[in-house]
Amino acid sequence: MHLRSLLISFSVLAAATPILSPRSDTNTYNITTDQILSIAPNSSTCANPPAVGECATAEQAAPAISASFSTYSVDSRAEQAALVALMAFETLDFRYNRNHFPGVAGQGTRNMQSPTYNDKYAASIPALSEQYASATGNVTAILDLLVADDSYDFGSAAWFLTTQCSDSVRAELQQGSESGWEGYITSCVGTTVTDERKDYWLKAVDVLGVGSE
Ligand SMILES: *[C@@H]1O[C@H](CO)[C@@H](O)[C@H](O)[C@H]1NC(C)=O
Ligand SMILES: *[C@@H]1O[C@H](CO)[C@@H](O)[C@H](O)[C@H]1NC(C)=O
Ligand SMILES: *[C@@H]1O[C@H](CO)[C@@H](O)[C@H](O)[C@H]1NC(C)=O
Repeated sequence: MHLRSLLISFSVLAAATPILSPRSDTNTYNITTDQILSIAPNSSTCANPPAVGECATAEQAAPAISASFSTYSVDSRAEQAALVALMAFETLDFRYNRNHFPGVAGQGTRNMQSPTYNDKYAASIPALSEQYASATGNVTAILDLLVADDSYDFGSAAWFLTTQCSDSVRAELQQGSESGWEGYITSCVGTTVTDERKDYWLKAVDVLGVGSE
C-alpha cells in the first residue's frame, strides 16, 4: 500500500517536474549513502558489530557498490535494485561478509555467494592472479583475499549477475516486474523468495525509482 501510493505520487511528480527524469549519464551507476540507508537502515553505524571486521556502513557501501555497477556495466535501475536488495538481505544490512549461519567455510562477500563462485570470481580478477595462485584452492584463503578489498567484497553481486545469469533472466529482470525479480532469485541465484527478501526488493525498487526513470 505504502509503496503503491509512493509510486503514484512519483509518476505524477515526474510528469510535472522534469528534474526527476531522466538520470544524467554521470549518475547512471551512482548509488548514494542515503539510498543505502533507506534500504538498509541498520547500516547507519558499525558500533558494536556482531562479527568483528565484517561490518560496513552505508557510507562505505555506497561508493563500493556504485563502482561495481560501473565495473560490470550494470546500468539498469531494476538490476541495481535487485542487487542492492540481495546484498542488504544476505548481509543483514551489511553487518556480515562471511557465512555464519551455519558457517560454511569460504562462503561470503557481500552477496554471500558459495565457495565455488568465490573461486571463479577471484580467478576472474587480474589484480589477484598471484595471490589466487598462492591460495591453491583453499576456500578460506580465497574468501580472505576477496573481503580484504571493498571493491572485490562489494563487487561480487554485479560479477555474479553479469557472468552467471542467462540473458533471458537478465532481460526479464530489467523489466522491473516482480516475476522478473523472482526469476533472478530462483533461476539464477538459486534460492527461494521469502517475505523478508521481497520486502528488501520492494524497498530498493521504491528508493531507486525503478520504473520512473
Ligand atoms: C554520487 O552522488 C552523490 C550525491 O548526489 C555525490 O555527492 C557524489 O559525488 C556522486 N558520485 C559520483 C561518482 O558521481
Ligand atoms: C535493526 O535494528 C533494530 C534495532 O536494533 C532491530 O530491532 C532490527 O531487527 C534490525 N533490523 C535488521 C534487518 O537487522
Ligand atoms: C587455509 O587458509 C586459511 C586462511 O589463510 C588458513 O588459516 C588455513 O590454515 C588454510 N588451510 C589449509 C589446509 O592450508
